[in-house]
Amino acid sequence: MIAQMVNAAPRVLVFDSGVGGLSVFDAIAASGHALDLDYAADNAWLPYGLKSDEQLRARVPALVTSLVAQWAPDIVVVACNTASTIALEQVRAALSVPVVGVVPPIKPAAALTRTGVIGLLATPATVRRTYTTDLITQFAMDKRVVRFGSAALVQAAEQKLRGEAPDPAAITEAIEGLFGAPGGAEIDVVALACTHFPLLTQELAAASPRPAVWLDSGEAIARRVAHVLIAEAGQARINRAAFTDAEAARDLYPAFRARGFESFLAINAAPEFSTTPAP
Ligand code: DGL
Repeated sequence: MIAQMVNAAPRVLVFDSGVGGLSVFDAIAASGHALDLDYAADNAWLPYGLKSDEQLRARVPALVTSLVAQWAPDIVVVACNTASTIALEQVRAALSVPVVGVVPPIKPAAALTRTGVIGLLATPATVRRTYTTDLITQFAMDKRVVRFGSAALVQAAEQKLRGEAPDPAAITEAIEGLFGAPGGAEIDVVALACTHFPLLTQELAAASPRPAVWLDSGEAIARRVAHVLIAEAGQARINRAAFTDAEAARDLYPAFRARGFESFLAINAAPEFSTTPAP
């Protein structure tokens, strides 16, 4: 009898500081491709948006490299704007597998706006990055871009996925920061440039003083991943989720289980980032 060769589905590692990458993970899982999906969160260091560029440039490539050595994915998705806009080149240089990053969706936002005013909602780090300013210069020079940075909204998304009510003050502050800014009343498209924020689209839209398109990068990233891997049609298989602070992630396990994760691991944050079964 001739043994039948069964091609294993390509393995995808989705990485973020916390649960934000799940907004990208959800799009990949729903994209209709036969992929094996793992997730890793550096929640011991959350929020990345309040860390310095130097800290992230040192930490993210080292951590991702260690995970790749252990899990051997075929592609890494840095599902974090804050990490991508500062450390993507370093991550790519450290790895031999393809790396897809998430950058602020300025280009599609500029194509969509009718009023010519775009809101840009990101972490405090991402709103002030040269990378972000360069994207605006390149794709939205003839538009007005109102930027607002929020770390509180990151925590609100984490709260929501823990099953708690997201802090309404964080939502209000972000809405006022955008629509209350000079020119902000005309915003008709908001670029969600932090992967945590699509998890709060309902709350943001409900608090918004006017209808707006809440634009995120999830589906674009999912398309990119399928394209790079030349992925076959099929169903995604959900595997492991790992956390640098597994204890703090416990309350999040139900949200991960609801997405099909069954195996939870702790990433020993220092010095070698090795993973062990979570207690
Ligand atoms: N989810 C991340 C992003 O897309 C950052 C959240 C954080 O500040 O850790 O920017």
